[in-house]
Amino acid sequence: MSPLRITRTLPEDAMDAALRSDVLHGLTRTPKTLPPKWFYDARGSELFEDITRLPEYYPTRAEREILLTRAAEIASVTGARTLVELGSGSSDKTRHLLEELTDLDSYVPVDVSDSALKGAGEVLLAEHPGLNVHALVADFQQGLVLPSGTPGPRLLAFLGGTVGNLPPAERAVFLSSLRALLEPGDALLLGTDLVKDEATLVAAYDDAQGVTAEFNKNVLSVLARELGADCDPADFAHVALWDRENEWIEMRLRARHDLTVKIRDLDLTVDFAAGEELRTEVSAKFRKDGVRAELAAAKLELTHWWTDSEGRFALSLSVPHTATDR
Ligand code: SAH
Ligand code: TRP
Repeated sequence: MSPLRITRTLPEDAMDAALRSDVLHGLTRTPKTLPPKWFYDARGSELFEDITRLPEYYPTRAEREILLTRAAEIASVTGARTLVELGSGSSDKTRHLLEELTDLDSYVPVDVSDSALKGAGEVLLAEHPGLNVHALVADFQQGLVLPSGTPGPRLLAFLGGTVGNLPPAERAVFLSSLRALLEPGDALLLGTDLVKDEATLVAAYDDAQGVTAEFNKNVLSVLARELGADCDPADFAHVALWDRENEWIEMRLRARHDLTVKIRDLDLTVDFAAGEELRTEVSAKFRKDGVRAELAAAKLELTHWWTDSEGRFALSLSVPHTATDR
């Protein structure tokens, strides 16, 4: 069996520096914010897996349905020999794709969570003993470089609607950076959650069991452990609301009363007024025309659009523009 290779493209102290800088900037501005990648330590990755099994969280089931029905078509359209997956997490849905990609030589999962990569890699190698699995512990927004020697055509997959966790301006930069990784013959497989009724959307991010609330508050545990912050998750309430104008779900942590958080390693004291909210994440919801336009702005051409039977979630396939101005 080929061994699992795990490459850390970001040294641990670089991750640490990034966390410090994000926390320092995010908690000293108004409104306070924190970028979502810090949710995903080992506990956060586990909690996200629990979210995917909640009755209210439909996106995982909807995307799985599309993969199950379309994987063979995706395989024949792309003929992929290398599958690169960004924010791969447990790679659980990806297995439907791997089953159909019969010409596949290499699978390159990319994630900030090394625990998720390790778990996923072991499961996949057991199922596909001949596959080269080369995992990258990396921030997909920080100048991603793919392992050399992986054969084309390449299929770049970004599932789970995670693209919607990037605010629009960052998303545009990010999509262009993906385009730059693609050569003629390569393709991008993108999962996007779709605009739907508010009750369904809000329930998916505010479940009855409180798993999403725990996930949202996990970012506070990361601050406590990594930076010696003295914050108590019980001081904050989980808030998920639908922003109709921007068509995104916004996740916040609301201070239950006046409080002060000391962040030892940053020598920083942060005051929260009662009711003040810290924005932790957006999850944008899309429409076909919007996805097509965002891809086009990144010089990618939408060629396929598949939804689940209830029209809740979409997978799109796009290819680099063939125009000479690339
Ligand atoms: N693709 C899986 C997991 C989605 S959750 C699914 O569809 O179920 C989002 C994943 O992206 C997490 O595993 C998280 O660790 C990873 N992630 C978030 N921000 C990231 C970043 N900037 N760079 C790399 N991985 C990131
Ligand atoms: N990509 C997932 C989504 O937007 C991430 C996610 C699900 C999430 N539930 C969450 C992020 C709750 C923060 C809080 O659906």
